[in-house]
Amino acid sequence: MNDLAPDRKYTNAAIPVGGVDPHPDKPTGEFLTDVVSNDWVNGEYKLLVVRAAERALTAYAGQFYHLLCPSPDGAEVWMRRPMSIYKVDKAAGCLEFLYKCEGRGTQGMATLEAGDTFNIAGPLGVGFTLDPAWKNIVVLGRGVGLATLAPLSQLAAEKGVGVTAVLSARRSDLVMSQDLFEELGAATVTVVDEDGSSAVENVEEILEKLIADGKADAFFTCGSSRLLKLMQNLGKKHDVPGQVAMEQIMVCGIGACYVCMRTFEINGEKTLKRVCREGPVFNMQEAVGW
Ligand code: FES
Repeated sequence: MNDLAPDRKYTNAAIPVGGVDPHPDKPTGEFLTDVVSNDWVNGEYKLLVVRAAERALTAYAGQFYHLLCPSPDGAEVWMRRPMSIYKVDKAAGCLEFLYKCEGRGTQGMATLEAGDTFNIAGPLGVGFTLDPAWKNIVVLGRGVGLATLAPLSQLAAEKGVGVTAVLSARRSDLVMSQDLFEELGAATVTVVDEDGSSAVENVEEILEKLIADGKADAFFTCGSSRLLKLMQNLGKKHDVPGQVAMEQIMVCGIGACYVCMRTFEINGEKTLKRVCREGPVFNMQEAVGW
């Protein structure tokens, strides 16, 4: 069960489901959400569904929430954890987060049960954008990066943009988000380590074919430095623009502490940017791998 002490739920500031919203015009807020479900989708990942106040549902693809995770073991979890939004279900009034249970924050999240209260702050950051000139996009992601990329299919479906999603994972049972992409009309290609199909040369061939077929007006990626490099090279070669969602450790999540700085290269000049504030989505060609 959710073992946050009552004062850690920030109940004075956070807006509960059905509560009065004192700042309906502000783009972000602190919300007390109701946990609807929190189920395993495979051996490593869980899907958390929470019901949230209306303003919390304004999140779009690539933005994130800062989550006040409960403790997995009784000891304090000091900081909020940033997590990209997986799905916004406005009809049901719900937000979904797909996450890998590996650190203390996500292990604490894994203890949430239906009926618990979960404090989230956001939506934060700059997410993905779709140029009206793009008719077809290619999404390439690996591992948990696929959870960040999946809502792009929602955004693309709303704008009538075709999506081809190349989904990479260690094993076929760990390929994630395929159902969400397909549900929203995307064509999917899965590549995995166990049969060697995720090798860079093979993925390069797939991308070259998509470019030749006119299916790649823009590239999108998250979750692998190797795949970022590949898309950067092909983007330069064929003049395909792109965006990358960067993953980074954060503290404040709102641009104040500068813990999340990363190096970017713009017109040959190295520069630092805050992933939480100027990103987490950036021009692919400006990103320096990690
Ligand atoms: Fe504090 Fe980004 S996490 S500035």
